[in-house]
Amino acid sequence: MDILIQKNVALSQFCTYRTGGPARFLAEAVDIPTMFTLREFAKQQNVPHLILGGGSNVLFADEGFPGLIILNRMNRVFFHGQGLVTAEGGVNLMRLILTAAEQNLGGISGLANVPGSVGGAVYGNAGIPDIWIGNVMMHATILPSDQNKPMIVPPDYFEFGYRESKIKRTRDIVLSATLKLTPCPKALIQREVHDYVKARALKQPAGASCGSFFKNPGTFPSAGWLIEQSGCKGMQVGGAQVSEKHGNFFMNTGGAASADILNLALKVHAIVKEKFNVSLEPEVQIIPNNPFNGHSEH
Ligand code: EPU
Repeated sequence: MDILIQKNVALSQFCTYRTGGPARFLAEAVDIPTMFTLREFAKQQNVPHLILGGGSNVLFADEGFPGLIILNRMNRVFFHGQGLVTAEGGVNLMRLILTAAEQNLGGISGLANVPGSVGGAVYGNAGIPDIWIGNVMMHATILPSDQNKPMIVPPDYFEFGYRESKIKRTRDIVLSATLKLTPCPKALIQREVHDYVKARALKQPAGASCGSFFKNPGTFPSAGWLIEQSGCKGMQVGGAQVSEKHGNFFMNTGGAASADILNLALKVHAIVKEKFNVSLEPEVQIIPNNPFNGHSEH
C-alpha cells in the first residue's frame, strides 16, 4: 500500500490552539503496518517523530517540527462482551463514550470532560479528579520504541501518575487500549455526559486553547486559583490572553502566534513564582522544546 507522506504541512490545522509552523513531514496512520512503516521512515531519515491524536494538548513552535508528524487515524472500536471494549489509539474519547452508551456500557462519562483521543489520554493519563483512563484500563497494545512488534501490556506498565505515564519518556506508541466498562442504561449515560459537558462549560472558556496550561501543583491550591490570586486574569501578550473565566486557560483570541502563548505563560509562571514561590509545570506538551525546564521534549 502506498503511504502519502506530505512535506511542509502547517500544524495549526491539527491542534486546538490553531497555531504552529510546518511539519517537515506529515502522514496518516490508519493501521498497525502503516504506523510501523512511518516510524521506520523517520528512523531512516534520522528525524524525530511524533504521534498526534486530537491535538488538544500540544503547543507547536512557530518554527514548526523538524521531523515526521504521524496522525493517528486508527479509529476502530471493538466490544468483546462482559463490559470489555478495545478502542484504537486514534478514537476520539467522546465518540468512545457515546458508542459504548449504545451498548448500555458506561463508567467513563467523566472523560467527556477531556477532549482528545484514546492514545493521547493514555499518554498523559487524562482525566478529571474522579476518573482517569488508567483506572479503567485492563491492558493496552503498544508499539514499543525499541521493538518492531506490538506488545500487550498491563496498566502497571505505564506507571501512571497525575497527568503522567512512562511512555512520555519511552515514546512507545499506543495502538489500542482495552477498558473495563460497567453496565448502565444508555439514557443515564447520556444524562451524565450532558451534566459533565454543562459543568465544564460553566467553569471553562470555549475557544482556542489547550485546556489547562499548567498542572495543578497539588490538591490545593490549584493552578487556576494561584494565577487568579496573582492578578493575571485577562493579561495579554499579542493575541494570547489569560482567560477571565478560568485562570489556567490561555486563549488564542484570534491571531496569536505560539510565541505569544509561550511568552504569556512564562510571564504568568514568573509572577506566580514571585508571589507564591510555586513553580508551575506545564501540562501541555510544548514541541519541540519546553522552555520551562530547559530540556527538549523530543
Ligand atoms: N479556581 C480559581 N480561579 C480560577 C480557576 C479555578 O480560584 O480562575 C479554583 C476553583 O474555584 C476551584 C479550583 O481552583 O476551587 C479548581 O478549579 P476547577 O474545578 O476549575 O478545576 P481545575 O483543577 O482547574 C482540573 C483539570 C481539568 C478538568 C477539571 C475538571 C488539571 C490541570 N485540570 O481543572 O482538566 O477539566 O479539573 O473539573 O488537572 C485539562 O487537563 O486540560 C483540563 C481542562
